[in-house]
Order: sequence, then structure tokens, then C-alpha cells
Amino acid sequence: MFRFDPYAPEIDADPFPAYRRLRDEFPCFWTEEAGMWVLSRYDDVLNALVTWRTYSSAKGNLVDEFPGRAGATLGSTDPPRHDRLRALIQSAMTKRALDHIAEPARASVRRHLAAIEGKESFDFVNEIGANVTVDLLFYLFALPKENAAEVRDNAVLMVQTDPLTRQKSEAHLAAFHWMADYAGKLVEERKRNPGDDLLSNFITAEIDGEKLLDREVQLTVTTLIMAGIESLSGFFGMFALNLADFPDSRRALVANPEMIPDAIEESLRFNTSAQRFKRTLTEDVELHGQTMKAGDAVMLAYGAANRDERAFSDPDTYDIERRPKRHLGFGGGVHACLGSMLARLATHITFEEILAKLPDFSRRDETLDWVPSSNFRSPRALHLVTG
Ligand code: HEM
Repeated sequence: MFRFDPYAPEIDADPFPAYRRLRDEFPCFWTEEAGMWVLSRYDDVLNALVTWRTYSSAKGNLVDEFPGRAGATLGSTDPPRHDRLRALIQSAMTKRALDHIAEPARASVRRHLAAIEGKESFDFVNEIGANVTVDLLFYLFALPKENAAEVRDNAVLMVQTDPLTRQKSEAHLAAFHWMADYAGKLVEERKRNPGDDLLSNFITAEIDGEKLLDREVQLTVTTLIMAGIESLSGFFGMFALNLADFPDSRRALVANPEMIPDAIEESLRFNTSAQRFKRTLTEDVELHGQTMKAGDAVMLAYGAANRDERAFSDPDTYDIERRPKRHLGFGGGVHACLGSMLARLATHITFEEILAKLPDFSRRDETLDWVPSSNFRSPRALHLVTG
């Protein structure tokens, strides 16, 4: 009997054979382990993203949602409330986010690359990727550096689920509460001493005389720290892994750095860090001979949709010259990733520097240890051998 258990360590390690069976044999599948339907074909996932009235985010978009988060963040609200929040947050983000990050990001990568200079091997995730994303986020929010390690540790913990109980453990929930408290204190502090940073911009952002509520700022910052650190550093890890596994592609990028954006898009399709998100049905839906009931939860398996041969030719091939690039690595529709431009720019700068300094690297270990998560997929560590 076919099972799809998004908590199983073998799914973290390699979800793609199961995704293929889902798409081909069980395109509308009830997973007992997660207690929700799974959609895995590109057209079905895209349709769900577009028909947000039926596939609602208001009960949360994380496969394992945090208590109290649904309804207060961008990812866990539907229009019109979502659109109001998004417009406010976007108005705060555009002011500074993109213009100002390039140089600090480049300086951060160079600093962390200098620290591994001369080493025969290094852990890309923990010595480069995580450090650069933390530096970037701390710069954007103008956060005090002394908390960096604690913030990162809690961001990594909060995205995890216990593979045995298939739930968030006490430690995972405690990490979320720690982050929410941390964000709450920052909001209070920044209200007293506003500056020219993203957090201050959220607090002061106004559209038609309306501002974000304190709780909205607090949970938005909590989510952005999680997304900023975990989605981005997770993706850095996946991109580095692809470049280690496909040396011809890496060599092409070393020779032609202007192709790095193409390779980023292909990695977002091929094995992105943001694999699965959730929606809840507001009405019954018939699909592929199944009846999904109003109130049922539905998993949108972006990672599976991105390998659908109905949408992509030769989908299991990593091809940095692939056209067109209509992947769902950043989701789509009204909830399409708000940080996508930032993520693209940060990845571009980071890997431009890395490839210039380390044109040749390979994986030290054949098997990797994966962060246990029902939403995200990324290695806990990635040891690369240089030269
Ligand atoms: C490569 C790194 C990243 C990936 C792969 C990624 C992926 C995603 C995906 C798939 C979604 C859609 C979620 C859903 O359908 O419910 C999303 C939403 C979102 N992401 Fe990202 N993300 C990344 C980086 C970032 C960064 C750096 C930020 C901000 C600092 C960010 C902020 C957000 C926000 C706020 C949303 C919710 C948007 C909404 O619901 O309107 N992301 N992201």
C-alpha cells in the first residue's frame, strides 16, 4: 500500500520517488500521517494558488502551524486582510531592502570566506550560508549582533517537526515563543527609538491612515526572521549542493557568472528549500475522482509540482539553461514569496563571491543529515572539499 509520510526521514532525504508516484498514481491523495490531502501535479497546485477563495490560508499555511499564528501574518490570512497587510509590509520593504543590501551582503560573504581560507574542507551551511543570512537579516532589521547565535538556533529549531510524534515538540514550540518574545521586545524598543531599518519601517508604514497592529508587526517579524534565515540559508545549502553535484554546471557558472541567475531559478525548481505548504478548503472540491470536503486541509507540494513532466520537459535533469522558468519555488498567486527579489539578489551576490574564490569544490559525504521539517528541506550541514 502506498503511503506518503512527510515526516519520514527518508522523505527529507529524497522525496522525489514518492512525489512521482503521487503525481502519476495518486494525484489527489489523503495522507493519514499528516491528516490532509496532497496535491502534487503542477496544474493542480497552480490552480489551488489562484483559487484562494476555495483554498484558504486563513487557518495557517504551515503544514504544522504554530498556535496563535494563523490570521495574523501574511501567509496565514486571505484577501482582503492579506492584501492590506501585504501592501503595508511591501511599502516598508521596498524603501531599503534591495538598494542597501548588496554591499553589506558582499562584505559578509568575503568575511566568512576569509575565515575558511586554507582549509581543505568546510561546512558550507554552518560556516558560510547561515552566517551570511544572519548577517543580512540583522543588517535589514538593525538588530543587536550579540543575539545572532541565539536567533539562528531558534530559527532553525522552529521550522522543525519531531519525526516520531509527527508534531512540533516542546523545544520547537519554545523556539517559536522565544522568537515571538524577542520580536515583541524589539517592536517595543524600536517604537521608542525608531531608525532607518525594516522593523522601524513596518511600525511606521501607513496606507490610507491605517497602520499594522503591534501584534501584526510582532508576528510578521517572527515570520520574516524564520523565512529570512531558514528559507534563505536552506536554499543557499541546496544551491551549493547542486553546484557540487553537477560540476559541469558549476564550471559553466565560473566561466560565465552572468548565468548565475539562471542557475538560481533552476535550483528553485529542481530541489528548493520550501517544499510543502498548506491550505484549508472553504467548500467541497471534486478532483481526480476524490471528494475533498469543506474544512479539509490540503498540502500543496511545490517540490513535487516542480518535477512534473506535464509541465517541464526532462524534469529530473538539472539544466541551468532551461526555458521557460515557471517554477513554483516561491509559490504563486496572492501568497507568492514577498522576499523573492531579496532572496534572488542575496543568492546571486553570495555565489558570485564563492565561485570566484572557490571555483572547484565537491561533497565530502555521500549521505547528508537533513533538517526534519514537514515544510522545508535542507541539509543540517554540507561539508565541501575545496580544490
Ligand atoms: C530562497 C529563499 C526563499 C524561498 C525558497 C521562499 C519560499 C516561499 C514560498 C514557497 C512562499 C509561499 C508560501 C505559501 O504558499 O503559503 C513564501 C512566502 C513568503 N516568503 Fe519566502 N522564501 C524565501 C525567502 C524569503 C525571504 C528572504 C523573505 C523575507 C525576508 C521571505 C518572506 C516571505 C513572506 C513574507 C511570505 C508570505 C507572502 C504572502 O503570504 O503574501 N521569503 N516564500
